[in-house]
Amino acid sequence: MTENEMLSYRSELPTLEKGIHLISHSLGPVPRNARKYAEQFLTEWEDDSITAWQKWLPAVRSLGDQIADVLGASHGTVTILPNVSIVQAIVASCFVFDGKGPFGRRNKIVYDELNFSTVHYVWREQARRGANVVVVPSCDGISAPIDALLAAIDDQTLLVPVSHVLFRSSGVYDAKRVIDRAHEQGALVLLDCYQSAGTIPLSLEAWGCDMACGGSVKWACGGPGAGYLYVRPDLLPKLEPMMTGWFGHAHPFAFDMGPMQYASDAWRMIGGTPAIPAIYTARAGWEMIAKIGVQNIRKKSLRQTELLRELVEKREFVVNTPRDDAARGGTICFDFEGAEAVSRVLSERRMFHDYRPRCGMRVSPHFFTTDDELERFMGEVDRVRREGIEPANPSRSY
Ligand SMILES: Cc1ncc(COP(=O)(O)O)c(C=O)c1O
Repeated sequence: MTENEMLSYRSELPTLEKGIHLISHSLGPVPRNARKYAEQFLTEWEDDSITAWQKWLPAVRSLGDQIADVLGASHGTVTILPNVSIVQAIVASCFVFDGKGPFGRRNKIVYDELNFSTVHYVWREQARRGANVVVVPSCDGISAPIDALLAAIDDQTLLVPVSHVLFRSSGVYDAKRVIDRAHEQGALVLLDCYQSAGTIPLSLEAWGCDMACGGSVKWACGGPGAGYLYVRPDLLPKLEPMMTGWFGHAHPFAFDMGPMQYASDAWRMIGGTPAIPAIYTARAGWEMIAKIGVQNIRKKSLRQTELLRELVEKREFVVNTPRDDAARGGTICFDFEGAEAVSRVLSERRMFHDYRPRCGMRVSPHFFTTDDELERFMGEVDRVRREGIEPANPSRSY
């Protein structure tokens, strides 16, 4: 698909008429069809009452399969869950750290300090249950510290829960190297693909990835509430989450009061009633990503992130994103004196992007972004800096 063909999808994204949207690393724009699917959900509820479940349950599975296609995984391997924090907590609840579980004496959890905070919060608290949590430092706050991470993975390591693309700098891990090293040592990898799925081609199955997670909010343009968990099918029988529920039971309608009998398929990880409205809304974004093709999205993204970096460097701002194509995700992060205040004014002018401490302004072209929008954005940065702004208190905003 050509870039012009990709740009023709702009008419499917009404948000683009309301501002310049460079924030798919945080929130993708809503596709027109999301409203159609949301309405479909309400109509089914209204018309079909309890029998609507005959449509809703297959919808959960089919969203999982749509996501599996983007992840490079087989159908039936992806479970839908509300968000990544819950996914991490469910996975954590599969482990005991006292040497008595199916993973033996392993108790080490290894990741890096550039991981997304929520992942750290979940694993850090597992220390209370005996996990040995090792947070590998980054040397520059930008690149994925792969050598230090690989060195920290040893024969005591149980799990390596890392981000494929780092939210703070858009640095990329070579996922295959992490997986290979973990497997050499008998450890598992849980790859957080939130910042890669939909913008970087993924081959989870070919890479031998054990588990992966993410959500629909960002590059997938699918909105909140439809996160996901992929598990390698042969690993699944070893996972018995303590954080569970009746949808994960082999016979939910038996309402059996004995010990949990886990479903044999990916639904053993699902817990309770899935968030059907979110699952309907999310479908439109994933459909669009699949139609356009992540290879095509990546090609355009590499060209436009390079263009953006040139625009930024021309202004002598500091770029906090790796330079090499293979080491860079879909975002360019940059900083300069007063950037936070400038960023706030730009957001007020509906030039959607964000600012994060220790990385600066995060700006992301996606398949629908024109070069002209990137130039207008940077032109506006210049204008705001020329005009000058009152310093304000840092606000708490997305
Ligand atoms: C890499 C990564 N993981 C996870 C999250 C969010 O986690 P949750 O779905 O629990 O809100 C984000 C951003 O919001 C992220 O960038």
